[in-house]
Amino acid sequence: MRVSKYFNNLRDKKVMITAGPTREHWDPVRFLSNGSSGQMGVALALEAARLGANVTLILGPIPGPIPRKRKNLRVLRVVSAEEMDEKVQEYLPGTRVFVGAAAVADYRPAVILRQKIKGKPEKTTLNLLRNPDIIAKVAKRGPNRPSVVIGFALETQDVLENASDKLRDKGLDWIVANRETNLGAPEGSATLLSRWQERMAIGHMTKERLAKQIWKALLDRPAL
Ligand code: C5P
Repeated sequence: MRVSKYFNNLRDKKVMITAGPTREHWDPVRFLSNGSSGQMGVALALEAARLGANVTLILGPIPGPIPRKRKNLRVLRVVSAEEMDEKVQEYLPGTRVFVGAAAVADYRPAVILRQKIKGKPEKTTLNLLRNPDIIAKVAKRGPNRPSVVIGFALETQDVLENASDKLRDKGLDWIVANRETNLGAPEGSATLLSRWQERMAIGHMTKERLAKQIWKALLDRPAL
């Protein structure tokens, strides 16, 4: 089957979105994480649902409100990258569009202690294992590969160059490049890059408006 690189509307299409940070515990109360608020992914999920898609939002622990479940929006809560990976694989079949907006922790502690760590030595070490690259697994060729796989790149420097390296290395169709100042902020700007060398800049605006603009940019294309 020939897979179209464009799609012109989301009506009744299965869309999966990962959002928020992941938490990588090393004891029951301590974890490694980051400052993602999940707002961008939540806004993309709400907008996709408004556009008629059947949305599965796989959401890490976020400080803000969780979107209400509705007929065409399912919200699955996860904590760690491994749990996020499992849920993505479980619900992936049939997904047309995948958006990886989650700020997935790259590493997890090698050992998770059942009890809170006692004692405070002057110096200690934490052994870390690499987490699965969730979006790279989704983007791999195979029967479950969605028609369109969209990632995010949050960069502190050489934003477009680093984003386009990630686009290629992870096998994505599109990447939303943005600066680290967007992390946890209510507003942001972004540049969309595609594997077909397209580039679209979206100005500074609220994440809700940004989400609308991102879907509009992706949908406003000739359907092949
Ligand atoms: O490599 P980096 O974390 O900057 O890549 C960002 C993109 O990859 C985002 O779309 C993010 O959701 C995804 N990602 C992932 N699994 C990881 C790391 C990143 O899906 N373990």
